[in-house]
Amino acid sequence: MVEFTLPQNSKITNGKNYPAAKGNGKVKSFAVYRWDPDKGENPRIDTYELDTESCGPMVLDALIKIKNETDPTLTFRRSCREGICGSCAMNIDGTNTLACTKSIGEIKGTVKVYPLPHMPVVKDLVPDLTHFYAQYAAIKPWLQSKTSPPPDQERLQSKQERSELDGLYECILCACCSTSCPSYWWNSDRYLGPATLLQAYRWIADSRDEATGERLDDLEDPFRLYRCHTILNCTKTCPKGLNPGKAIANIKKLLVARR
Ligand code: SF4
Ligand code: SF4
Ligand code: FES
Repeated sequence: MVEFTLPQNSKITNGKNYPAAKGNGKVKSFAVYRWDPDKGENPRIDTYELDTESCGPMVLDALIKIKNETDPTLTFRRSCREGICGSCAMNIDGTNTLACTKSIGEIKGTVKVYPLPHMPVVKDLVPDLTHFYAQYAAIKPWLQSKTSPPPDQERLQSKQERSELDGLYECILCACCSTSCPSYWWNSDRYLGPATLLQAYRWIADSRDEATGERLDDLEDPFRLYRCHTILNCTKTCPKGLNPGKAIANIKKLLVARR
């Protein structure tokens, strides 16, 4: 039987413990993935105990408290802290989600916090999204028009045409869906993944866009689109409640319809 073992330097070790001060009220443990490429050490899990009564309600509040009061070396991304920018996407309690909208109270036991899976790590909870953004840029995420706009007017849509973008325009490109997709894990070099495909469909579905044919031509490829096997992890994990699996199915339907 073939045995697979992890390279020695990728094994995760137990790191430091930071206990809560004595006499603290409601203590919760946070086990957080740490890795600093400059140190040449293995990744480790550091455990921080926090008094949740002196902390905001979300996992991001806890990470900010740890960074401010216990360990300034802890590295993570965040900006809006209200589920709009997508920066704080990470794997919490086994699910890809946004740290700023994930309630600590929902999680039983120790809160386990890891970076988004199957992405190169820059440091600690920060994944390298360079390739993800390059894939997004490749679908030309802007309105492409061939005809001139009406004079002194925007390109207008009917209410019905506008409603076709509902469930698509809300995507914040957090990458939770793509990094939960097994097809993306194994083929992200060639498969665009659910986030980029949902965005591609957002422009295909836009009545003002005049490049639908070219957009579909670009997607008609065994890897770029058809590596989606409708596993639907993407839809299950989306913290904005969107349905990338459906958007991908809609692209496939349009490709069949034009044959
Ligand atoms: S579809 Fe949802 S999970 Fe995927 S990038 Fe957009 S907001 Fe994030
Ligand atoms: S439905 Fe497609 S994109 Fe979504 S998780 Fe499954 S394979 Fe990935
Ligand atoms: S900080 Fe912006 S989505 Fe969480």
